[in-house]
Amino acid sequence: MAVTPTTAEQGRLPLENALRRGGQLPVAIDEKGILIAIVQRWRDDTTLKVRLLIQGTEIVAASIYAIFNQSGGVGKTTLTQNIGYHLSQLGRKVLLVDDDPQGSLTVFMGLEPIELKKTLYDAVVREEDIAIIRNVSGMDLVPSNISLSTAEMELVGAMMGELRLKQALESITDDYDYILIDCPPSLGILSIMSLVAATHVLVPIQTEFKALKGTELLLTTIVKTLKIANKKLKIAGFIPTMYDGRTSQGENSLKAIYEQLSKVGKVFPTIPRTTDFANASQKQLPLALYNPKHHAVSILQEIAKTLDDAHGSK
Ligand SMILES: Nc1ncnc2c1ncn2[C@@H]1O[C@H](COP(=O)(O)OP(=O)(O)OP(=O)(O)O)[C@@H](O)[C@H]1O
Ligand SMILES: [Mg+2]
Repeated sequence: MAVTPTTAEQGRLPLENALRRGGQLPVAIDEKGILIAIVQRWRDDTTLKVRLLIQGTEIVAASIYAIFNQSGGVGKTTLTQNIGYHLSQLGRKVLLVDDDPQGSLTVFMGLEPIELKKTLYDAVVREEDIAIIRNVSGMDLVPSNISLSTAEMELVGAMMGELRLKQALESITDDYDYILIDCPPSLGILSIMSLVAATHVLVPIQTEFKALKGTELLLTTIVKTLKIANKKLKIAGFIPTMYDGRTSQGENSLKAIYEQLSKVGKVFPTIPRTTDFANASQKQLPLALYNPKHHAVSILQEIAKTLDDAHGSK
């Protein structure tokens, strides 16, 4: 293969990143996390020269998705659990973070929120090590319960409260391929904290008459976060949910979602309305484990595959 020298400007940050991840191994990775070089030599920050010796192996940093919509009951928690499950089925290491005092994700994953000794609250308010429950349906989980509701007040007054989730995740990010954060139905500090910690935001939108109501506010919040607190945040896209093709309301809102939101980001395949989602979460299982033959399973698989393809295969 061609051996092409690259400069400090191109190499410095990825190099530092690679050294941090890989210990002593002097390698450089590009912005997508692809290993582009074993570094042959370098001098200092301003005159660093690296020589490409190998090409093709991949080191991909964790993608952190905030599943975000301030409207309630649009399918955020359901999608967090199910997309997480299908990413894990692709062989990826997945962490789900319950960032909602309602603790729905914690319940969907089979835990009793009130019985938990340690939750996300302890990590973001008390700044303790983040509590992780291992291997629930093939994924790890940072659980939550009602104690997180007071975090809203406690963090608003705290120094850089909106950075707390990012800081809490920092030491474990390298352990995962994907971290999915289930946001609460609000635009308060818990949601902002997720957008600040995230690399991507994924927005479920319910396909009903009020579908686009609130979207402007939601996008304004994303854009503000992008400008002020997290310049790297990417809009992964929108997932139409609870679609009922038999009603004109469903059809019209899906059309409106495509018309208005495809300008802003990718519109993913539509999730149908089906009571099996509620049945599955009652049994505390992802849909694919509750009813593997359900037609929505292949749609969830497709969404997970699309996200994974964008992330880069490992
Ligand atoms: N595609 C679907 N079809 C039918 N019901 C669904 C679908 N997706 C989710 N549900 C059900 O709708 C309810 C709300 O879903 P979910 O909890 O995922 O929404 P949410 O956006 O997380 O809500 P909240 O804003 O309260 O956190 C749940 O009972 C869930 O089982
Ligand atoms: Mg929820």
